Amino acid sequence: MSLTYFMPTRVVWGPGSLDGVGPATHGLGCRNVLVVTDPVIGKQAFFARVLDSLRAAGLETALFDACGIDARLAHIDEQAARCRAERIDGIVCVGGGSVMCTGKGVAIVAANGTTLRDHLGAGNFDRPALPMVMVPTTAGSGSEVSQFTIVKDEERHLKLLAGGPLSFPAVAVLDPAVLATLPRSAAVLPAVDALTHAIEAYLSDLASPLTDALALESARLQAASMRASILDGDETARADNLLASAMSNIACGNARLSHAHALSLPLEGHLDLAHPLGVGTLVPWTMAHNAAAVPAKGRRLAEALGADVAGLTDTQAVEAGVAALFRLYDDIGFARHLTPDHLPPERCAEMARLAVPGLYAPQTPPHIDEDTHIVAPAARPMTVAQATRIYERCLGR
Ligand SMILES: [Fe+2]
Repeated sequence: MSLTYFMPTRVVWGPGSLDGVGPATHGLGCRNVLVVTDPVIGKQAFFARVLDSLRAAGLETALFDACGIDARLAHIDEQAARCRAERIDGIVCVGGGSVMCTGKGVAIVAANGTTLRDHLGAGNFDRPALPMVMVPTTAGSGSEVSQFTIVKDEERHLKLLAGGPLSFPAVAVLDPAVLATLPRSAAVLPAVDALTHAIEAYLSDLASPLTDALALESARLQAASMRASILDGDETARADNLLASAMSNIACGNARLSHAHALSLPLEGHLDLAHPLGVGTLVPWTMAHNAAAVPAKGRRLAEALGADVAGLTDTQAVEAGVAALFRLYDDIGFARHLTPDHLPPERCAEMARLAVPGLYAPQTPPHIDEDTHIVAPAARPMTVAQATRIYERCLGR
Protein backbone atom coordinates (compact mmCIF):
# COMPACT_ATOMS: atom_id res chain seq x y z
CA MET A 1 0.00 0.00 0.00
CA SER A 2 1.44 3.41 -0.90
CA LEU A 3 0.98 6.26 1.56
CA THR A 4 1.27 10.01 1.08
CA TYR A 5 2.25 12.56 3.69
CA PHE A 6 1.08 16.12 3.00
CA MET A 7 1.04 19.15 5.29
CA PRO A 8 1.47 22.53 3.62
CA THR A 9 0.55 24.76 6.58
CA ARG A 10 3.33 27.00 7.94
CA VAL A 11 3.39 26.67 11.74
CA VAL A 12 4.61 29.67 13.74
CA TRP A 13 5.00 28.90 17.40
CA GLY A 14 5.96 30.62 20.65
CA PRO A 15 5.40 33.67 22.85
CA GLY A 16 4.97 36.86 20.81
CA SER A 17 3.96 35.09 17.62
CA LEU A 18 0.50 36.74 17.76
CA ASP A 19 2.05 40.00 16.60
CA GLY A 20 3.11 38.30 13.38
CA VAL A 21 -0.48 37.62 12.25
CA GLY A 22 -0.71 40.89 10.27
CA PRO A 23 2.58 40.52 8.36
CA ALA A 24 1.87 36.82 7.70
CA THR A 25 -1.59 37.61 6.31
CA HIS A 26 -0.27 40.48 4.20
CA GLY A 27 2.47 38.19 2.93
CA LEU A 28 -0.18 35.85 1.51
CA GLY A 29 -1.36 38.66 -0.77
CA CYS A 30 -4.49 39.42 1.29
CA ARG A 31 -5.70 43.02 1.54
CA ASN A 32 -9.27 42.71 2.90
CA VAL A 33 -9.90 39.91 5.39
CA LEU A 34 -12.83 38.50 7.33
CA VAL A 35 -11.88 37.96 10.97
CA VAL A 36 -13.90 35.08 12.45
CA THR A 37 -14.29 34.61 16.20
CA ASP A 38 -16.88 34.08 18.94
CA PRO A 39 -18.46 36.58 21.35
CA VAL A 40 -16.18 35.62 24.27
CA ILE A 41 -12.87 35.61 22.39
CA GLY A 42 -13.87 38.85 20.66
CA LYS A 43 -13.61 40.66 24.01
CA GLN A 44 -10.13 39.38 24.94
CA ALA A 45 -7.03 41.57 24.93
CA PHE A 46 -5.17 39.11 22.69
CA PHE A 47 -7.95 39.42 20.10
CA ALA A 48 -7.41 43.18 20.02
CA ARG A 49 -3.70 42.47 19.51
CA VAL A 50 -4.51 40.40 16.43
CA LEU A 51 -6.71 43.16 15.01
CA ASP A 52 -3.99 45.74 15.70
CA SER A 53 -1.44 43.55 13.95
CA LEU A 54 -3.68 43.20 10.88
CA ARG A 55 -4.41 46.92 10.68
CA ALA A 56 -0.76 47.84 11.23
CA ALA A 57 0.06 45.65 8.23
CA GLY A 58 -2.36 47.73 6.14
CA LEU A 59 -5.20 45.24 5.94
CA GLU A 60 -8.91 46.06 5.85
CA THR A 61 -10.87 43.93 8.34
CA ALA A 62 -14.49 42.79 8.46
CA LEU A 63 -15.73 40.91 11.54
CA PHE A 64 -17.91 37.86 12.15
CA ASP A 65 -18.05 37.19 15.89
CA ALA A 66 -21.18 35.05 16.31
CA CYS A 67 -19.71 31.53 16.22
CA GLY A 68 -21.24 29.12 18.74
CA ILE A 69 -20.37 25.68 20.12
CA ASP A 70 -20.49 24.04 16.69
CA ALA A 71 -19.74 25.42 13.23
CA ARG A 72 -23.11 25.91 11.50
CA LEU A 73 -23.99 25.56 7.85
CA ALA A 74 -26.14 28.69 7.92
CA HIS A 75 -23.30 30.87 9.25
CA ILE A 76 -20.91 29.53 6.65
CA ASP A 77 -23.16 30.10 3.65
CA GLU A 78 -24.18 33.58 4.85
CA GLN A 79 -20.60 34.74 5.50
CA ALA A 80 -19.36 33.27 2.21
CA ALA A 81 -21.97 35.40 0.39
CA ARG A 82 -20.73 38.40 2.37
CA CYS A 83 -17.13 37.65 1.33
CA ARG A 84 -18.11 37.66 -2.34
CA ALA A 85 -20.16 40.87 -1.96
CA GLU A 86 -17.43 42.70 -0.03
CA ARG A 87 -14.52 41.34 -2.12
CA ILE A 88 -12.90 39.75 0.90
CA ASP A 89 -9.74 37.91 -0.09
CA GLY A 90 -8.65 36.10 3.08
CA ILE A 91 -9.90 34.64 6.36
CA VAL A 92 -8.31 35.07 9.79
CA CYS A 93 -9.77 32.83 12.50
CA VAL A 94 -9.17 33.49 16.19
CA GLY A 95 -10.83 30.83 18.31
CA GLY A 96 -11.34 27.16 19.01
CA GLY A 97 -12.44 24.36 16.72
CA SER A 98 -15.89 25.72 15.90
CA VAL A 99 -14.47 29.14 14.96
CA MET A 100 -11.79 27.62 12.72
CA CYS A 101 -14.25 25.17 11.16
CA THR A 102 -16.62 28.07 10.45
CA GLY A 103 -13.85 30.14 8.85
CA LYS A 104 -12.62 27.18 6.80
CA GLY A 105 -16.12 26.50 5.54
CA VAL A 106 -16.48 30.17 4.57
CA ALA A 107 -13.11 30.06 2.76
CA ILE A 108 -14.23 26.98 0.77
CA VAL A 109 -17.69 28.28 -0.16
CA ALA A 110 -16.56 31.84 -0.94
CA ALA A 111 -14.23 30.44 -3.61
CA ASN A 112 -16.42 27.63 -4.91
CA GLY A 113 -20.14 28.33 -4.86
CA THR A 114 -23.09 29.20 -2.72
CA THR A 115 -23.46 26.53 -0.06
CA LEU A 116 -21.22 24.07 1.77
CA ARG A 117 -23.87 21.40 1.09
CA ASP A 118 -22.55 21.23 -2.49
CA HIS A 119 -19.01 20.45 -1.31
CA LEU A 120 -19.45 17.89 1.48
CA GLY A 121 -17.07 14.95 1.67
CA ALA A 122 -13.37 14.84 0.91
CA GLY A 123 -11.95 16.90 -1.96
CA ASN A 124 -15.32 17.86 -3.39
CA PHE A 125 -14.41 21.28 -4.84
CA ASP A 126 -12.09 22.57 -7.57
CA ARG A 127 -10.90 26.04 -6.60
CA PRO A 128 -8.48 26.79 -3.75
CA ALA A 129 -10.22 28.08 -0.63
CA LEU A 130 -9.49 31.69 0.30
CA PRO A 131 -6.14 31.91 2.13
CA MET A 132 -6.60 31.23 5.84
CA VAL A 133 -4.55 32.28 8.86
CA MET A 134 -5.53 30.36 12.00
CA VAL A 135 -4.94 31.44 15.58
CA PRO A 136 -6.17 28.56 17.79
CA THR A 137 -7.19 29.69 21.26
CA THR A 138 -7.39 26.22 22.77
CA ALA A 139 -5.03 23.28 22.66
CA GLY A 140 -7.11 22.06 20.83
CA SER A 141 -9.04 20.81 17.94
CA GLY A 142 -6.04 20.91 15.62
CA SER A 143 -8.23 22.51 12.95
CA GLU A 144 -5.44 25.05 12.36
CA VAL A 145 -3.39 22.41 10.53
CA SER A 146 -6.29 20.42 9.07
CA GLN A 147 -7.80 20.50 5.60
CA PHE A 148 -11.20 19.51 7.00
CA THR A 149 -14.08 21.41 8.51
CA ILE A 150 -16.62 19.61 10.69
CA VAL A 151 -20.02 21.25 10.63
CA LYS A 152 -23.27 20.49 12.40
CA ASP A 153 -26.38 20.05 10.30
CA GLU A 154 -29.00 20.90 12.89
CA GLU A 155 -31.91 19.78 10.72
CA ARG A 156 -30.62 16.25 10.12
CA HIS A 157 -28.76 15.67 13.44
CA LEU A 158 -25.54 14.99 11.57
CA LYS A 159 -21.96 16.10 11.79
CA LEU A 160 -20.77 16.79 8.26
CA LEU A 161 -17.24 16.88 6.91
CA ALA A 162 -15.90 18.95 4.03
CA GLY A 163 -12.42 19.81 2.87
CA GLY A 164 -9.54 18.65 0.76
CA PRO A 165 -5.98 19.46 -0.25
CA LEU A 166 -7.20 22.89 -1.44
CA SER A 167 -8.45 23.92 2.02
CA PHE A 168 -5.39 23.67 4.23
CA PRO A 169 -4.83 26.83 6.26
CA ALA A 170 -1.83 28.77 4.95
CA VAL A 171 -0.49 29.72 8.39
CA ALA A 172 -1.12 28.54 11.96
CA VAL A 173 0.02 30.92 14.70
CA LEU A 174 0.44 29.22 18.08
CA ASP A 175 1.00 31.73 20.88
CA PRO A 176 0.61 30.53 24.49
CA ALA A 177 -0.71 34.00 25.42
CA VAL A 178 -4.14 32.92 24.14
CA LEU A 179 -4.39 30.29 26.88
CA ALA A 180 -3.74 32.74 29.72
CA THR A 181 -7.38 33.79 30.08
CA LEU A 182 -8.93 30.44 29.18
CA PRO A 183 -11.03 29.12 32.10
CA ARG A 184 -9.87 25.70 33.30
CA SER A 185 -13.18 24.11 32.38
CA ALA A 186 -12.83 25.39 28.82
CA ALA A 187 -9.24 24.13 28.53
CA VAL A 188 -9.91 20.54 29.58
CA LEU A 189 -12.26 19.37 26.83
CA PRO A 190 -10.20 20.45 23.79
CA ALA A 191 -7.02 19.17 25.45
CA VAL A 192 -8.55 15.71 25.81
CA ASP A 193 -9.74 15.83 22.20
CA ALA A 194 -6.21 16.67 21.05
CA LEU A 195 -4.78 13.74 22.99
CA THR A 196 -7.28 11.39 21.34
CA HIS A 197 -6.05 12.59 17.94
CA ALA A 198 -2.52 11.44 18.78
CA ILE A 199 -3.72 8.05 20.07
CA GLU A 200 -6.03 7.48 17.11
CA ALA A 201 -3.37 8.40 14.54
CA TYR A 202 -0.80 6.13 16.20
CA LEU A 203 -3.13 3.12 16.15
CA SER A 204 -4.50 3.70 12.65
CA ASP A 205 -3.68 1.19 9.93
CA LEU A 206 -2.75 4.19 7.75
CA ALA A 207 -0.01 5.14 10.23
CA SER A 208 3.51 5.46 8.84
CA PRO A 209 6.87 6.18 10.48
CA LEU A 210 6.29 9.85 9.61
CA THR A 211 2.93 10.05 11.36
CA ASP A 212 4.07 7.76 14.21
CA ALA A 213 6.93 10.14 15.02
CA LEU A 214 4.48 13.03 15.31
CA ALA A 215 1.73 11.09 17.08
CA LEU A 216 3.92 9.41 19.68
CA GLU A 217 5.88 12.56 20.56
CA SER A 218 2.64 14.52 20.61
CA ALA A 219 1.08 12.02 23.05
CA ARG A 220 4.20 12.20 25.24
CA LEU A 221 4.27 16.00 25.16
CA GLN A 222 0.56 16.29 25.94
CA ALA A 223 0.64 13.79 28.79
CA ALA A 224 3.66 15.61 30.21
CA SER A 225 2.37 19.18 29.78
CA MET A 226 -1.39 18.99 30.25
CA ARG A 227 -1.44 19.17 34.05
CA ALA A 228 0.93 22.15 34.27
CA SER A 229 -0.75 23.86 31.30
CA ILE A 230 -4.31 23.49 32.60
CA LEU A 231 -3.88 23.48 36.39
CA ASP A 232 -0.85 25.72 36.95
CA GLY A 233 -0.94 28.06 33.95
CA ASP A 234 2.70 27.36 33.22
CA GLU A 235 3.66 29.21 30.02
CA THR A 236 6.17 26.63 28.77
CA ALA A 237 3.64 23.86 29.34
CA ARG A 238 1.00 25.89 27.50
CA ALA A 239 3.31 26.38 24.54
CA ASP A 240 4.11 22.64 24.52
CA ASN A 241 0.43 21.82 24.77
CA LEU A 242 -0.46 24.07 21.81
CA LEU A 243 2.30 22.64 19.64
CA ALA A 244 1.47 19.05 20.62
CA SER A 245 -2.16 19.65 19.71
CA ALA A 246 -1.10 20.80 16.22
CA MET A 247 1.31 17.85 15.90
CA SER A 248 -1.42 15.35 16.73
CA ASN A 249 -3.67 16.83 14.08
CA ILE A 250 -0.90 16.75 11.47
CA ALA A 251 -0.52 13.07 12.34
CA CYS A 252 -4.22 12.29 12.13
CA GLY A 253 -4.62 14.46 9.03
CA ASN A 254 -2.44 11.88 7.30
CA ALA A 255 -3.11 8.67 9.26
CA ARG A 256 -6.79 9.59 9.83
CA LEU A 257 -8.99 9.19 12.88
CA SER A 258 -10.11 5.84 14.11
CA HIS A 259 -12.68 4.08 16.26
CA ALA A 260 -13.09 6.64 19.05
CA HIS A 261 -14.10 9.29 16.53
CA ALA A 262 -16.29 6.88 14.55
CA LEU A 263 -18.14 5.76 17.71
CA SER A 264 -18.48 9.32 18.98
CA LEU A 265 -20.24 10.52 15.83
CA PRO A 266 -23.74 9.12 16.56
CA LEU A 267 -23.51 10.30 20.18
CA GLU A 268 -22.80 13.83 18.93
CA GLY A 269 -25.37 13.78 16.16
CA HIS A 270 -28.27 11.97 17.84
CA LEU A 271 -27.69 12.63 21.57
CA ASP A 272 -26.06 16.08 21.33
CA LEU A 273 -22.99 14.94 23.25
CA ALA A 274 -20.01 17.32 23.14
CA HIS A 275 -17.30 15.89 20.87
CA PRO A 276 -14.52 15.73 23.50
CA LEU A 277 -16.79 13.94 25.99
CA GLY A 278 -17.51 11.30 23.36
CA VAL A 279 -13.99 10.71 22.07
CA GLY A 280 -12.36 11.14 25.49
CA THR A 281 -14.49 8.51 27.23
CA LEU A 282 -14.27 6.13 24.26
CA VAL A 283 -10.54 6.30 23.59
CA PRO A 284 -9.24 4.28 26.57
CA TRP A 285 -11.31 1.32 25.35
CA THR A 286 -10.68 1.77 21.62
CA MET A 287 -6.97 2.16 22.41
CA ALA A 288 -6.93 -1.15 24.31
CA HIS A 289 -8.91 -2.82 21.50
CA ASN A 290 -6.45 -1.71 18.80
CA ALA A 291 -3.23 -2.04 20.79
CA ALA A 292 -3.99 -5.75 21.16
CA ALA A 293 -3.19 -6.11 17.44
CA VAL A 294 0.06 -4.10 17.61
CA PRO A 295 1.46 -4.87 21.07
CA ALA A 296 4.86 -3.21 20.57
CA LYS A 297 3.14 0.03 19.60
CA GLY A 298 0.73 -0.34 22.50
CA ARG A 299 3.70 -0.58 24.84
CA ARG A 300 5.38 2.55 23.41
CA LEU A 301 2.10 4.46 23.60
CA ALA A 302 1.59 3.45 27.23
CA GLU A 303 5.09 4.74 28.02
CA ALA A 304 4.37 8.00 26.19
CA LEU A 305 1.24 8.41 28.32
CA GLY A 306 3.37 8.19 31.43
CA ALA A 307 3.01 4.52 32.42
CA ASP A 308 5.96 2.64 33.91
CA VAL A 309 5.98 -0.49 31.76
CA ALA A 310 9.24 -2.05 32.96
CA GLY A 311 8.79 -5.75 33.64
CA LEU A 312 5.23 -5.81 32.29
CA THR A 313 3.96 -8.02 29.48
CA ASP A 314 2.65 -6.16 26.44
CA THR A 315 -0.93 -6.73 27.59
CA GLN A 316 -0.15 -5.43 31.07
CA ALA A 317 1.67 -2.45 29.53
CA VAL A 318 -1.44 -1.44 27.60
CA GLU A 319 -3.51 -1.80 30.78
CA ALA A 320 -0.98 0.47 32.51
CA GLY A 321 -1.35 2.95 29.63
CA VAL A 322 -5.13 3.00 30.10
CA ALA A 323 -4.63 3.51 33.84
CA ALA A 324 -2.20 6.40 33.15
CA LEU A 325 -4.79 7.98 30.88
CA PHE A 326 -7.45 7.72 33.59
CA ARG A 327 -5.07 9.24 36.17
CA LEU A 328 -4.55 12.17 33.81
CA TYR A 329 -8.33 12.51 33.39
CA ASP A 330 -8.78 12.49 37.18
CA ASP A 331 -6.09 15.13 37.69
CA ILE A 332 -7.40 17.59 35.09
CA GLY A 333 -11.06 17.00 35.98
CA PHE A 334 -12.30 15.03 32.98
CA ALA A 335 -14.90 12.39 33.92
CA ARG A 336 -13.90 8.79 33.21
CA HIS A 337 -17.41 7.75 32.28
CA LEU A 338 -20.50 9.00 30.51
CA THR A 339 -23.75 9.15 32.47
CA PRO A 340 -27.07 7.54 31.44
CA ASP A 341 -28.21 11.10 30.63
CA HIS A 342 -25.42 11.34 28.04
CA LEU A 343 -26.00 7.84 26.69
CA PRO A 344 -29.10 5.91 27.79
CA PRO A 345 -27.83 2.33 28.30
CA GLU A 346 -30.63 0.84 26.22
CA ARG A 347 -29.40 2.81 23.19
CA CYS A 348 -25.84 1.36 23.09
CA ALA A 349 -26.65 -1.23 20.41
CA GLU A 350 -28.48 1.34 18.30
CA MET A 351 -25.51 3.73 18.52
CA ALA A 352 -23.13 0.94 17.45
CA ARG A 353 -25.17 0.35 14.31
CA LEU A 354 -25.31 4.07 13.57
CA ALA A 355 -21.51 4.25 13.98
CA VAL A 356 -20.84 1.80 11.13
CA PRO A 357 -20.19 4.40 8.37
CA GLY A 358 -17.74 6.29 10.62
CA LEU A 359 -16.16 9.46 9.32
CA TYR A 360 -15.03 8.15 5.98
CA ALA A 361 -17.62 5.79 4.47
CA PRO A 362 -19.61 7.39 1.66
CA GLN A 363 -22.85 5.73 2.78
CA THR A 364 -24.32 3.31 5.28
CA PRO A 365 -24.14 -0.35 4.14
CA PRO A 366 -27.58 -1.76 3.22
CA HIS A 367 -27.38 -4.57 5.80
CA ILE A 368 -25.88 -4.24 9.28
CA ASP A 369 -25.66 -7.00 11.87
CA GLU A 370 -23.60 -7.77 14.98
CA ASP A 371 -20.60 -8.82 12.86
CA THR A 372 -20.53 -5.76 10.56
CA HIS A 373 -17.31 -3.80 10.90
CA ILE A 374 -17.20 -0.12 11.91
CA VAL A 375 -15.61 1.75 8.98
CA ALA A 376 -12.43 3.30 10.40
CA PRO A 377 -8.73 3.00 9.63
CA ALA A 378 -7.55 0.99 12.61
CA ALA A 379 -4.97 -1.59 13.62
CA ARG A 380 -7.74 -4.07 14.42
CA PRO A 381 -11.25 -4.40 12.97
CA MET A 382 -14.15 -3.70 15.32
CA THR A 383 -17.58 -5.30 14.98
CA VAL A 384 -20.91 -3.76 15.92
CA ALA A 385 -21.05 -6.20 18.86
CA GLN A 386 -17.63 -5.05 20.09
CA ALA A 387 -18.63 -1.41 19.64
CA THR A 388 -21.77 -2.01 21.72
CA ARG A 389 -19.61 -3.41 24.51
CA ILE A 390 -17.30 -0.38 24.33
CA TYR A 391 -20.26 2.01 24.72
CA GLU A 392 -21.28 0.02 27.81
CA ARG A 393 -17.77 0.33 29.22
CA CYS A 394 -17.98 4.10 28.69
CA LEU A 395 -20.94 3.98 31.06
CA GLY A 396 -18.78 2.17 33.62
CA ARG A 397 -20.52 -1.18 33.07
FE1 LIG B 1 -11.54 15.12 17.66
